[in-house]
Amino acid sequence: MGDVVLQGAGLRKSFFRAGRDAARRFDAVADVSVALRSGEMCALMGRSGSGKSTLLNMLAGLLTPDEGTVSLSGQDLYALSDEALSRLRNQAIGVIPQGHTALHSLTVFENVELPCHMHGETTDVHDRVDSLLEKLGIAELSNAYPSELSGGELRRVAIARALVVEPQVILADEPTSDLDDENTELVMNALRAASREGRAVLLVTHEQAAATYADRVMRMDAGRIVEGVEA
Ligand SMILES: Nc1ncnc2c1ncn2[C@@H]1O[C@H](COP(=O)(O)OP(=O)(O)O)[C@@H](O)[C@H]1O
Ligand SMILES: [Mg+2]
Repeated sequence: MGDVVLQGAGLRKSFFRAGRDAARRFDAVADVSVALRSGEMCALMGRSGSGKSTLLNMLAGLLTPDEGTVSLSGQDLYALSDEALSRLRNQAIGVIPQGHTALHSLTVFENVELPCHMHGETTDVHDRVDSLLEKLGIAELSNAYPSELSGGELRRVAIARALVVEPQVILADEPTSDLDDENTELVMNALRAASREGRAVLLVTHEQAAATYADRVMRMDAGRIVEGVEA
């Protein structure tokens, strides 16, 4: 296992929730510290509403914590300017969000190469996209449009899009929730392969089978990590 690449320390995020009399604040994530290492695949499990997505979004640089810090290779994400943060995020963190996010007016190939153009990268892009599509078993869909794809194929496009910039960190939020067993296995294997290539992978999932792919399983309950946090 490699060095710690992404570290969350003392993270807290609270939201307002409408109560019977008045809105009250509650902690969706409370005092969570977590470290992800290069080459390690971690699964984050826990019931719906336990704070998994909120934590993932803070780690991804997408949601500012109320307390605590997130550092990527020692760089404090939320101390950066918006511009510096989005640049760093684009090149170092691949996010596979919940739901479908492919752009429907672009082909599979164009969807996957998009993140490279967003941060001005032009070298080897064509080859990299081709080899990723090949690896994920969707090479023959290169010129197809998202509306022509199955759920499992769309999910693999999202994974290719997250991997194309060769990020140090991959954060995936329930990437198999709508997939059958065969596609679940393909996605899990792709994420595991990304970790074996040296990336730090965090996989939020309900899949019990995730434990067989992950090096470490963390469990969240009511905003806290109750199991599997690194010593
Ligand atoms: N933007 C938001 N505003 C208010 N409440 C939110 C918001 N995002 C999440 N929550 C609440 O925070 C809790 C944790 O949500 P979430 O992190 O999405 O959980 P999980 O991903 O584990 O299902 C839930 O009670 C959810 O309703
Ligand atoms: Mg969630």
